[in-house]
Amino acid sequence: MERSLEGKEIILGVTGSIAAYKAVEILRELTRRGAAVTVVMTESAQRFVTPLTFETLSRRPVLTDLFTLEYDKQIGHVASAGRADLLLVAPATANTIAKCAHGLADDFLSNIYLSSTCPVLLAPAMDLEMYAHPAVQENLSRLKGRGVSVVEPEYGELASGLIGRGRLAELSAILQAVEDILHRQGDLSGETVLVTAGPTQEPLDPVRYLSNRSSGRMGFAIAEAARDRGAHVMLVSGPTFLPTPPGVTRMDVTTAEEMYHAVLDRLDDTTILIMAAAVADYRPSTQARQKIKKREAMTVELVRNPDILAEAGRRKGSRTLVGFAAETEELIQNAREKLEKKNLDLIVANDIRVGFGGETNRVTILDREGGVEELPELTKREAAHRILDRVVALRKPTP
Ligand code: CTP
Repeated sequence: MERSLEGKEIILGVTGSIAAYKAVEILRELTRRGAAVTVVMTESAQRFVTPLTFETLSRRPVLTDLFTLEYDKQIGHVASAGRADLLLVAPATANTIAKCAHGLADDFLSNIYLSSTCPVLLAPAMDLEMYAHPAVQENLSRLKGRGVSVVEPEYGELASGLIGRGRLAELSAILQAVEDILHRQGDLSGETVLVTAGPTQEPLDPVRYLSNRSSGRMGFAIAEAARDRGAHVMLVSGPTFLPTPPGVTRMDVTTAEEMYHAVLDRLDDTTILIMAAAVADYRPSTQARQKIKKREAMTVELVRNPDILAEAGRRKGSRTLVGFAAETEELIQNAREKLEKKNLDLIVANDIRVGFGGETNRVTILDREGGVEELPELTKREAAHRILDRVVALRKPTP
């Protein structure tokens, strides 16, 4: 379903790729849907398409020359990227991606990127070898780590005649990404979201522990996505190597019992609890003070850990509670039982034969009304947004 972009202020950066002509179509669609668009072109982009084309369609001056006296006036006009709702760079060349990743500012577009406080969306387009090069991939992951969104290029025939990944994403995919960002902006403001992430470690002795393969990525992606949508976010994390997302308050814990206290101590302040952590169900009944020496055979007695989410379910109030169910069989049935038993609003069922520890995930969202929403394989960040879309819908007061 097409949604209006009325009242939205977008900066469209066009860089020097053969796909620059496709930016004309992007501009037409954005303006047709009601957005006000200011186009910024790099020097090489102007070799592919003239600024006049964009100027005519956007009915605004096109920003090209950093060293004009008009700079201040023009940049003030586009709100020095501070008033814009979105900076979209399509197509984004390897060169511009590298400049953004490293903070270079030698043209109008890179200056705008550095002074922008709005969300940034990049649509890369380049030859397949360039796109696959570790330098480009590292730059992209650095930018993603900073919260920049990327519409991945498509697989297909490239300008060079070669076939591979590097073609600018389809117009519909770029517009969908624009819509998603603009419509999600600020829809969690006023909410306090508590997210748990990662595994827990249950010590056996000073050097050994029981744990699981959770990477923490799903929970961290949810924390980031909730922050981008305006929530105040607290992240209770088990041991992971992931960096703390800027703007998120993080508390590190090791064991399930520590996580239990960290979560329940903060429950009063929380309006939305999302338990993405893979909490160990058991811990060794005793923890040896000294390193256990090897012997012929050994039996470890395990005792149950407290169920954090079930306890939060008992104290639910007006909070929205979201759980995860990692399963290897009877996915939907097991997930539904957990949703009911723990008094949850949503449960995200995860077939761990697909998505444990990796970059992508294939999840199914179940609700209290019996609804089952099966999502396709998505990046964890996109899956996070889809889960939050459902949370936002639940938080809206019923008319
Ligand atoms: N969870 C929790 N505290 C625990 C165990 C799990 O809060 N001690 C949360 C998880 O973070 C997840 C949800 O409960 O959101 C489901 O966890 P899971 O371990 O899959 O469910 P269990 O009810 O423990 O069922 P089982 O282990 O039998 O699959």
